[in-house]
Amino acid sequence: METTATKRRDNKKSLRVKVISLGNAEVGKSCIIKRYCEKRFVPKYLATIGIDYGVTKVQVRDREIKVNIFDMAGHPFFYEVRNEFYKDSQGVLLVYDVGLRESFDALDSWLGEMKQEMGSQANMDSIVFIVCANKVDLTKRRVVDEGEGRLWAESRGFHYFETSAQSGEGINEMFQAFFSSITDMCENGGKRPVSEVSVGFTKEQADTIRRIRNSKDSWDMLGVKPGATREEVNKAYRKLAVLLHPDKCVAPGSEDAFKAVEEHLEEHLVDHLEEHLEDHL
Ligand code: GTP
Ligand code: MG
Repeated sequence: METTATKRRDNKKSLRVKVISLGNAEVGKSCIIKRYCEKRFVPKYLATIGIDYGVTKVQVRDREIKVNIFDMAGHPFFYEVRNEFYKDSQGVLLVYDVGLRESFDALDSWLGEMKQEMGSQANMDSIVFIVCANKVDLTKRRVVDEGEGRLWAESRGFHYFETSAQSGEGINEMFQAFFSSITDMCENGGKRPVSEVSVGFTKEQADTIRRIRNSKDSWDMLGVKPGATREEVNKAYRKLAVLLHPDKCVAPGSEDAFKAVEEHLEEHLVDHLEEHLEDHL
């Protein structure tokens, strides 16, 4: 016979959560979900119209989790349909295609759309975000590398996984980490546990590394105006050294970024010196 006590215990053990998928059209959101729920891959592109809804049950430790999945359409056309569904999510799958830089760059605007639609409810600390760098099976067309993706994700306290809905790589691991983090968060009173958020480097460090990687010239790399004085260049360099020196910064890519700055600075100084000598000859 089922007693009130056992009912109460079971209620505590079972959990109901809502997760949503976000990212540009055609990056593979629906395929990632299908790979996990149905263990199959469909090579033909079937654009999601508005929203696809599905439900799945998973076991995390001693709890049964009922997961309501709202798979969003990435196409801008469906904005009006999507915006209703952001609220009350405990988890967000942010997906990009490693072969399409614009789909990676778009992650910021996806977060922006979500925040805007959630309005006063926009407490991003109560949501688990997981970034899927998808289509890693297509190695030849890859343009966004792991360091760059991981940096973007981890500097925001988000998880990062390399996935392929086609081969299945990373999919189960990603969903396991996702659901177990959501459970941890619920057990932690609805806040993401601190250990997850703290990654040992700051957003400023991550943003600086990203700027250096994408810089078009030495000025841009140092973050100074073209034609800046020697003193301004030195000041900018000292600031970068404090921020990125490998002894002080554990962010992925900091060593390469710092090396690139040093190399450019050397070139810059040689040019400067040559100009200076020419002026005096
Ligand atoms: P929208 O619903 O329009 O927002 O797109 P989506 O993000 O849901 O993309 P979908 O899952 O429909 O996949 C788009 C296309 O990419 C399809 O042709 C898939 O077969 C293909 N695709 C998805 N994931 C992968 C992957 O990991 N590797 C490869 N090679 N192709 C993939
Ligand atoms: Mg879809």
